[in-house]
Amino acid sequence: MEADAIKIEHIPVLSEALAEQITLPPDGVMVDTTIGHGGHSYLFGKNLGTKAVLIGLDVDKNAIRAAQSRLKDLTCKVILLHSNFSQIAERVHEQGIDKVDFILADLGLCSAQLADAQFGLSFQADMPLDMRIDKRLKTTAADIVNKTDEKSLADLIYKFGQERASRRIARLIVQQRKIESITTTGQLASMVCRALRQPRQKRRLRIHPATRTFQALRIAVNDELENLKQLLVSVPGLLKKGGHIAVISFHSLEDRLVKINFKFNEDQGIYKIATKKPIVPTRGEIMKNPRARSAKLRIAQKQ
Ligand SMILES: C[S@@+](CC[C@H](N)C(=O)[O-])C[C@H]1O[C@@H](n2cnc3c(N)ncnc32)[C@H](O)[C@@H]1O
Repeated sequence: MEADAIKIEHIPVLSEALAEQITLPPDGVMVDTTIGHGGHSYLFGKNLGTKAVLIGLDVDKNAIRAAQSRLKDLTCKVILLHSNFSQIAERVHEQGIDKVDFILADLGLCSAQLADAQFGLSFQADMPLDMRIDKRLKTTAADIVNKTDEKSLADLIYKFGQERASRRIARLIVQQRKIESITTTGQLASMVCRALRQPRQKRRLRIHPATRTFQALRIAVNDELENLKQLLVSVPGLLKKGGHIAVISFHSLEDRLVKINFKFNEDQGIYKIATKKPIVPTRGEIMKNPRARSAKLRIAQKQ
């Protein structure tokens, strides 16, 4: 499964918009904090010269392997590191580099990760309920749904999933886990569907009923919002004057953090925001790559 999943093509989102906005000097230094399959990095890397450096980070070792293969023909120096982007400053300084021209974060998941049973992320297929992208983490989604008390579980689903039926879902999970532990994505998805099958919810749903609960658990397991905050705090100290930070986010909790951080730094005279409104994909891009539909790109330039 692992080898098959890695072969699933990941189409980089908003890459044309990024290329229009960002031009790197031929000897520039770029950090792709979410290297994934190296799609975005390849687009920038192919224009870089032999003196340029491309540092790629990812918490998923398989992604690092896929990026290695994608980027093997680049002429610039490529350094790929199995690391959380919350530690970007340490990773960059370890390379003897003080400041960089461009930092990119394309948040969320690669298509291959959703399909790969080892990550246990999908409600479309039955997989062990795991959700750790970084296998060095200790707590799985199964640990959370089987061990967290009802109120904390409902709060988590509400806070990270913006799920209004969080209390109903948490109540059913707690009832059901007394009968049998919840160990698969299929079990959890069908429980959420049962909890939501109330008259009020009978209207046709645009998204799968388990989407918000799964998002909440994934954010909690991988500490996604704290990692993003840490990344955003580190970036101003790493960018050269005139350098850019670009963040592609896929849900409003992430986008809000980026928006607030950019505005704060602009008010301090540290950034100039290049995207007053976030750039979103065209209808054409969404048709070709439905995963792009919720993407938002924000860019700021260091002053
Ligand atoms: C949407 S994919 C990136 C795809 C990439 N831009 C491309 O074109 O192939 C997001 C990647 O970020 C990684 N990731 C998620 N959170 C991370 C974190 N805190 N630190 C480093 N990598 C992370 C995931 O493992 C995944 O490979």
